[in-house]
Amino acid sequence: MEKVNVLFVCLGNICRSPMAEGLFCELVKKSGLSDRISCDSAGTGGWHAGSSPDARMHKTALQRGIELNHEARQLHADDFYRFDYILAMDKNNYRDITRICPPDAKSKVLLMRHFDAQDRDAGVPDPYYGGDKGFDEVFDIA
Ligand code: 4NP
Repeated sequence: MEKVNVLFVCLGNICRSPMAEGLFCELVKKSGLSDRISCDSAGTGGWHAGSSPDARMHKTALQRGIELNHEARQLHADDFYRFDYILAMDKNNYRDITRICPPDAKSKVLLMRHFDAQDRDAGVPDPYYGGDKGFDEVFDIA
């Protein structure tokens, strides 16, 4: 059976999207679905390519039992063919992704919180320039 491939995308790929990927992967594993669902993350920007997740995000995740093991990478044209769902953390990410997306792949691009029945239109706030509270908030939303 073909796998469903899910890609989480933020700006830098060191805070929000590796967090979402790490948590989602853990849930997939716990549900025994690892042979059915794969996940990855990427950033629309490439400045942090090759870096580990931001230390603050890593710490917050670890405190909640999730170890983030991801090397940041930039979103690539192939991703639009390799992945079935491309989940943007906020509206700016969505705009940046759909700007470079082939027209036939646009329907794969959704806001991550499209799946949040409480607030389908909301984004995951960027915690990079804020304090520790922002990282807890990202975890709670993810
Ligand atoms: P992320 O957070 O998009 O959640 O990974 C950011 C990381 C780095 C920068 C901005 C946001 N930056 O400007 O370097």
